[in-house]
Amino acid sequence: MKVLFVCLGNICRSPTADAVLTSMAADREVKGLTVDSAGTAAYHVGSAPDPRAVSKGRSHGYDLSSLRARQVRDSDFDEFDLILAMDKANLADLKLRKPADCRARVEMASEFSSLDFQDVPDPYYGGDDGFEHVIRLCESIGEGVLAWYDGESTGA
Ligand code: 4NP
Repeated sequence: MKVLFVCLGNICRSPTADAVLTSMAADREVKGLTVDSAGTAAYHVGSAPDPRAVSKGRSHGYDLSSLRARQVRDSDFDEFDLILAMDKANLADLKLRKPADCRARVEMASEFSSLDFQDVPDPYYGGDDGFEHVIRLCESIGEGVLAWYDGESTGA
């Protein structure tokens, strides 16, 4: 099962979601789940995540340091099972690109969280607390994705 998180730049929110879910899955010895992230925009292709996201992730035990930004590609819609948008603008951009007939389900990441929110707010132009908030939301999304994956893989 392959899950792709998508935000705008792929340097703040989606790499955080990627690292959080990857870490949660490893801690729980979940097998067969592949996680990646991408951006709808190309501004930061090839760049490491924003240093504020790397440092906030590290303070919570998540390693973003080896991730590099890439843009969403057409092949993602057939390669991934689930493509999760971090906000409504990301979802709208993905739906414009999504082929009518493809493998991936494209949804809001927040659909998988038990918390009451829709968008994972963009922390890029804000302060430290925005990055902290992104971690908390990504942890709750990660819990939901793992519960969903558990159901899928056990047929529940
Ligand atoms: P992200 O945050 O979509 O969470 O990676 C942003 C990163 C860069 C920009 C905007 C949002 N930017 O305008 O360069």
